[in-house]
Amino acid sequence: MNFTGAHILTVSQFQREDVDRVFSTADSMEPYALRKRVTRVLEGAILGNMFFEASTRTRVSFGSAFNLLGGEVRETAGFESSALVKGESLQDTARVLSGFSDVICMRHPEDGSVADFAEASRVPVINGGDGSNEHPTQALLDLYTIRRELLDKGKNINGLSIAMIGDLRHGRTVHSLTKLLSLYDGVRVTLVSPRELSLPDGIVESMRNAGVDVRIRHELAKSIVDVDIVYSTRIQEERFSNKQEADLYRGKFRLNQAIYTQYCQPNTVIMHPLPRDSRSDANELDNDLDDNPNLAIFRQTDNGLLVRMALFALVLDVADKVEKFSADVNWYNSRQSSKITR
Ligand code: NCD
Repeated sequence: MNFTGAHILTVSQFQREDVDRVFSTADSMEPYALRKRVTRVLEGAILGNMFFEASTRTRVSFGSAFNLLGGEVRETAGFESSALVKGESLQDTARVLSGFSDVICMRHPEDGSVADFAEASRVPVINGGDGSNEHPTQALLDLYTIRRELLDKGKNINGLSIAMIGDLRHGRTVHSLTKLLSLYDGVRVTLVSPRELSLPDGIVESMRNAGVDVRIRHELAKSIVDVDIVYSTRIQEERFSNKQEADLYRGKFRLNQAIYTQYCQPNTVIMHPLPRDSRSDANELDNDLDDNPNLAIFRQTDNGLLVRMALFALVLDVADKVEKFSADVNWYNSRQSSKITR
């Protein structure tokens, strides 16, 4: 695909070579994300960061990625503080905001809303999650993490075996990641969810058509034996008509260190798009896993910065100019001795 000026709305727009391009560009962003160098390549550019649904890491990650490339961020968070509560259409909001911005990131609770917005936008729009539909940048950062974690173990994405666990019906990160995995060969995906929260049939069917070995399970223990990756997800309570209904499914597939030791391979990588629901009735990834070196959840968030920097650099066509506009870092860098960051 031609990235320059493109909207990033769904993973379906990517071929394998496009994913490779994002990943190699993400690799090149590491000195800047780790504050070994700074770059001003996007000096003067403005990101409109529009989040109409709860978010911590995706919103701040997009904003930080843009800042790390030297750009400025303007933000609106929540419906209450936007003109949408006055009855303005998304399209009018798009027409206005694209006059102020060079690129827009958007999250919205309705499926398809970001694509509708993009149609009226004069600048590229990046989907930060539209309802239960898709979350393409999360899927890219998840796959980038999978690739890095597997490389460390002498493997690659072809031949990957992954168990995806939790609310697969509403989980947009799962929808996007499973579609992306369909681009690779010899992939086995074990789907573990309550029956009512199964991955939509259409996605299962297209994975199978693409040659993915899909297994459907409703029990955790046997499903996490012999997998490279366990990808846990939260019950998406905001997609249920009431909280009581979501409560029926919470805490059904808890992973803790004892279960990990009993069933997983010693090297199985544990992932989660976050936030993990740490309330006692959910606790899908127990805190006692925090010292497990295979817990990759904070490497995922670190990698998210690299992948989002890469997407901005590609969409705004500066990927090959980042270094030219770079300089030394002046301040003390506490990351050099940090435990979390590589
Ligand atoms: C996810 C989301 O918003 O879809 N979070 C994220 O962006 N990392 C997953 C979730 O909210 O459970």
